[in-house]
Amino acid sequence: MSEQKIEGTCIAGEEGVYTAGRAGHIRSFVLRQGRVSNAQQRYYEDMMPKIGIPYAAARLDLDAVFGRSSDIAPKIFEIGCGMGETSYAIAAANPQNDYLGLEVHTPGVGSLCKLVAEGGITNLRICQHDAVEVLRDMIGPETLSGVHIFFPDPWPKARHHKRRLIQPPLVATLVAKLKPGGYIHCATDWENYAEQMLAVLSAEPALQNTAADYAPRPEYRPLTKFEQRGLRLGHGVWDLVFRKK
Ligand SMILES: C[S@@+](CC[C@H](N)C(=O)[O-])C[C@H]1O[C@@H](n2cnc3c(N)ncnc32)[C@H](O)[C@@H]1O
Repeated sequence: MSEQKIEGTCIAGEEGVYTAGRAGHIRSFVLRQGRVSNAQQRYYEDMMPKIGIPYAAARLDLDAVFGRSSDIAPKIFEIGCGMGETSYAIAAANPQNDYLGLEVHTPGVGSLCKLVAEGGITNLRICQHDAVEVLRDMIGPETLSGVHIFFPDPWPKARHHKRRLIQPPLVATLVAKLKPGGYIHCATDWENYAEQMLAVLSAEPALQNTAADYAPRPEYRPLTKFEQRGLRLGHGVWDLVFRKK
């Protein structure tokens, strides 16, 4: 399998490995052998028994997982935590919310485990599995107050666009899992993907855009280092925030 470095984003695998196959759907990622550092490995082993949610084809009781009701602590679902800096920063700054972070790659999961352990926060759990399946099988209808999808793999080649996460079927599933008034917040630094996001989200009748088109970056989403660098170089970043009617 060849690999492609996309500036400012994660490494995404090339085609061939992850067609529908056993998953029953086209995956938005490719599993690759990433190097896991000693620290990531150590924190992974120490923390995943405490904060890891194993995948199961059964509904997850989020209130029980976090030990508090959604009426008190809204539940936010994140697809693709990457190395976890943003996921950690948001959870640490918002102890009133509970966060379930989804990431498939072990180095990223290990890195987020380290941040959680060092920061001592208790409102974040990690599930290392395809978020599409976790949503479908584990998340009950109208249980989420928010969904974060920050800088999803852009799959820039036209023949790979089918791998992109933000497509009508996933958005329909997200809507079903959101409480009324719940939000979907996407961000991307790929203009063409931003346009796709805007078109797909706008076409979902159960959603309402919170802005005329792209939204100002909500304060809770910190600027990442690569984003700051990109902005200095004149590259764009597009946030989209839609609410369930
Ligand atoms: C480009 S990175 C962005 C990471 C992070 N959100 C950030 O802003 O730095 C996208 C991440 O999404 C993860 N990912 C893609 N599809 C996923 C899926 N279906 N379930 C869970 N994680 C997924 C990838 O493994 C990758 O780490």
